[in-house]
Amino acid sequence: MAGDTIRRDRDGDVLTLTVDRPDALNALNTDVLEELLDAVESADARVLVITGAGDDAFIAGADIAYMQDLSTPEAQAYAELGHRVTNAIEEYPGAVVAAVNGYAFGGGCEVALAADLRVASNNAVLGQTEIDLGIVPGWGGTQRLSRIVGDAVARRMVFFGERVDAEDAQRLGLVGEVVAQGELDDYVAEMSQELAEKPAFALRSAKEALNQVHEMPQSAGLAFERRLWSGMFGTHDQREGMEAFVEKRDPEFE
Ligand code: COA
Repeated sequence: MAGDTIRRDRDGDVLTLTVDRPDALNALNTDVLEELLDAVESADARVLVITGAGDDAFIAGADIAYMQDLSTPEAQAYAELGHRVTNAIEEYPGAVVAAVNGYAFGGGCEVALAADLRVASNNAVLGQTEIDLGIVPGWGGTQRLSRIVGDAVARRMVFFGERVDAEDAQRLGLVGEVVAQGELDDYVAEMSQELAEKPAFALRSAKEALNQVHEMPQSAGLAFERRLWSGMFGTHDQREGMEAFVEKRDPEFE
């Protein structure tokens, strides 16, 4: 899909997708959402980074001006599109890092929640602020938030529409790290490069297994893990990783 609101920057095995609509603080209208969906679905990099253009916002949310007059069927289609985007991020067959470089409200927070890892700049503010617009989170926030920060914190954030600064977000486990605004790109680039050098099949499998935690009962999850784990034996990376350890050298993964 041709479009100009998602920038793609490739650096080796790392692809950075930048939501580039700074005039609206990178708010996601349907065009941007569709473009983001296409960018995620067509990506083939080992690591995906998602961030926002400019110094102020990661993504300030779903587009409020667009949403204000939606009918229920139109809202349903918008929610489905938002779910397709966040599910595509969650199921991406490689690591996804959200570089949260400013406001991440509503749908912006939900995009970040779908990523595997979240790194925030010290000016970032996150929140599921929908309550103050008379609605609730609709792109996965009612489900993913509590799985990440726990039920009590999620209820407080959603009920009050709380806006959480970067430091508090880290304390709550909403983001993994906080770095100075000017250092975010370098920090994320280094982290992504390290992830890209991990054995790709093992990393993808680890993600797949961790994603099952909320999809099935533990006994089924353990069976899933056993199958996945034993299926790795005989792969190049398993042979190489263990041989390299025994031979006291660095492994060379595929
Ligand atoms: N949807 C559509 N447009 C948005 C937007 C959104 N979610 N968030 C910001 N914008 C637009 C503003 O309308 C404004 O456009 P304008 O210059 O044409 O008037 C522009 O982005 C800049 O926003 P502004 O509010 O002037 O910037 P600010 O620095 O004073 O405040 C925020 C920044 C993020 C605190 C404020 O814009 C905000 O609260 N946005 C809504 C966040 C939200 O509730 N998101 C959840 C949606 S589900």
